[in-house]
Amino acid sequence: MKVLGLETSCDETGLAIFDSEQRDSDNQGLVAQVLYSQIELHATYGGVVPELASRDHIRKLIPLLNELLQQANLKKSDIDAVAFTRGPGLVGALMTGALFGRSLAYALSIPAIGVHHMEGHLLAPLLSDNPPAFPFVALLVSGGHTMLVAVKGIGQYEILGESIDDAAGECFDKTAKMLNLPYPGGPNIAKLAEMGNPQAFELPRPMLGRGLDFSFSGMKTAVHNLIKDNPTDINNSSDTQNRVNIAASFQFAMIDTLTKKCVKALKQTGMNRLVIAGGVSANQSLRQMLSHELAKINASVYYAPPALCTDNGAMIAFAGWQRLNANQSDDLAVDCYPRWDMTSLPSVINS
Ligand code: KG4
Ligand code: ZN
Repeated sequence: MKVLGLETSCDETGLAIFDSEQRDSDNQGLVAQVLYSQIELHATYGGVVPELASRDHIRKLIPLLNELLQQANLKKSDIDAVAFTRGPGLVGALMTGALFGRSLAYALSIPAIGVHHMEGHLLAPLLSDNPPAFPFVALLVSGGHTMLVAVKGIGQYEILGESIDDAAGECFDKTAKMLNLPYPGGPNIAKLAEMGNPQAFELPRPMLGRGLDFSFSGMKTAVHNLIKDNPTDINNSSDTQNRVNIAASFQFAMIDTLTKKCVKALKQTGMNRLVIAGGVSANQSLRQMLSHELAKINASVYYAPPALCTDNGAMIAFAGWQRLNANQSDDLAVDCYPRWDMTSLPSVINS
C-alpha cells in the first residue's frame, strides 16, 4: 500500500510516500520525502505566527506534492491512501493539510486518515535500522510536548508523566532566544554547548523527587538570572566563555533531568526498552547520556534517524499506514484537534 503522508501542524510542510511493499528495502519503505521549513518566514517575529504558517502551507502543498511524485516516479493515481496530521497543533495550519489531504483522497476515491502528530513522532523510531519491539517506555520531547508514555502496542498508551509547564524543546528555544541565537534553538544551543563546560554553572534539576512529571519554567528563570549575572555579548570576546558555558550548563541540566526521569520510568514499569522521539531526541548529548546510564540498568535506548526526529511527512505516512492496515479510516468530515489526548486513540490489534 502506497500512503501519502502530509504534515502541516506547525511551521514545516512535510510530505512523504511510504510503500508497505518496500519495507524490507534499505529505505524502510520510504519511497520519497520532501520538506519545506518556514523558519525564515517566522524569523523576523521571533516565533511562529499562526496565520502566516497556514497561508504558507497552502502556497506550498501543491508544488511539494508535484515534487514528491516526481521524486518517487509515481502518478497521483498510484497513491492508495492519504494520511494527514489531524492534531495537536495550530488549528489553521492543521486545517490546510487536512482539507488538502481529505479532498485529494475523495477525488481519487481512496481512503484517508487523520493522524495524531505525537503518535507520528512516537512510531518514527520503528523506521530506523534498529527498531524497538513492544512494549517500551517512550520519552516524547518536542517543541510543544514532554511526556513519558508506557507503550504496549500501537494505540495502547498510558501517560506516566508530562510537563506541567514548558516543554523541553520550548525551553531550548527560549534559552536560545536569551542567548540571541536564532529559532529553532535546540540545534543552535547544542552547537554552542560543544565548546562549553557543562559543569561551569549549577542549574536546577526540577521535580526529580516528585514522580514522573516535569517542570521546566524554573530552569528557564535560572538561565535568565545566569545571563543577567554573567553578561554574554557575543561580540565581546572576554564574555564568549560565559556564553558557551551557559549553553553547555543548560543543556547538561536538561538532559540530566530527562535521563533521570527515564531511568525512573523504566524502573517503575519494569521495562528495559526506551524510545526517544520528537525534535529534542535529535540531541546527540541526550542520546549519549541515555546510552551510558541505561547500560547500567541493562536497558537500551532507541531513536529515529535525525531527519525523522523533527517534524516530517514520513512519520505521518507510516503512522497512518499502521492504522489503515488495521482497516481504520475516516469519513468525509474534516475535524482537526488543536489539543488531542493520545490515550483516546483506538488500539491497533496485532501490532
Ligand atoms: O518535534 P518538533 O520538530 O516539532 C514539534 O512537534 O514541536 O520539535 C521541535 C523542537 C524545537 O523546540 C527544537 O528546538 C527542538 O525540537 N530540537 C532540538 C534539537 N533539534 C530540534 N533540541 C535539542 N537538540 C537538538 N539537536
Ligand atoms: Zn512535532
